[in-house]
Amino acid sequence: MPSQLRIYVPDHPLIKHWLAVARDVNTPTVLFKSAMTELGRWLTYEATRYWLPTLELNVQTPAAVCPATVINPEVPIAVIPILRAGLGLLEGAQTLLPLASVYHLGLVRNEETLEPSCYLNKLPEKFAPETRVLIVDPMLATGGSMMAAMKELTNRGADPSLMRIISVVAAPPALQKLSLEYPGLNIYTAIIDESLDDNGYIVPGLGDAGDRTFGTL
Ligand code: PRP
Ligand code: URA
Repeated sequence: MPSQLRIYVPDHPLIKHWLAVARDVNTPTVLFKSAMTELGRWLTYEATRYWLPTLELNVQTPAAVCPATVINPEVPIAVIPILRAGLGLLEGAQTLLPLASVYHLGLVRNEETLEPSCYLNKLPEKFAPETRVLIVDPMLATGGSMMAAMKELTNRGADPSLMRIISVVAAPPALQKLSLEYPGLNIYTAIIDESLDDNGYIVPGLGDAGDRTFGTL
């Protein structure tokens, strides 16, 4: 079992392209939403490598029997979008994981204290121990929201080593917090940015991901 936080920044032109679109302050809401969908798709593609449970079997082609690998339908897959901004990534993730259960978790940061509070929790009481859990939230800033989400998930039996987090922009404070508490966690992000400003926003970042996704700036 890995004992160190693993942060992957996939070197993929589509991820870089859609990150550039999302970062641009002149990108209108409708295109920003498309960028989030695409980033959700490609980051999920990267994160599901070596993570999705598979079965080896034989299939009959029109010509012969041959060995094949399929996704194991017996192992539960859960996608957890952290509202609101995580909803932007969800659609892309779902195109790759159409059979996954989606459990919404609504968290919002207090603008002054930056502490998250939970206003919606649709998590199940208990996760089966083998459940693959994909958490989707585009911004890891102070890390307070993701730490709160991890607590809710692990309290319900989710195994951090079977989790994958996808984010678009991650900042060092969040990565440090997660690494101390959850060594063995795997994070896939489009970029790691340098710092936070005095209001807890990532610099250079992409602004307020929730507001830009839903046109509530
Ligand atoms: C944003 C973002 C993360 C959180 C990250 O949500 O989507 O959940 O901030 O910040 P943190 O790492 O400092 O906790 P926000 O609270 O702005 O809510 P929203 O998605 O509804 O806009
Ligand atoms: N939440 C956002 O939406 N953007 C940031 O830069 C930090 C937190």
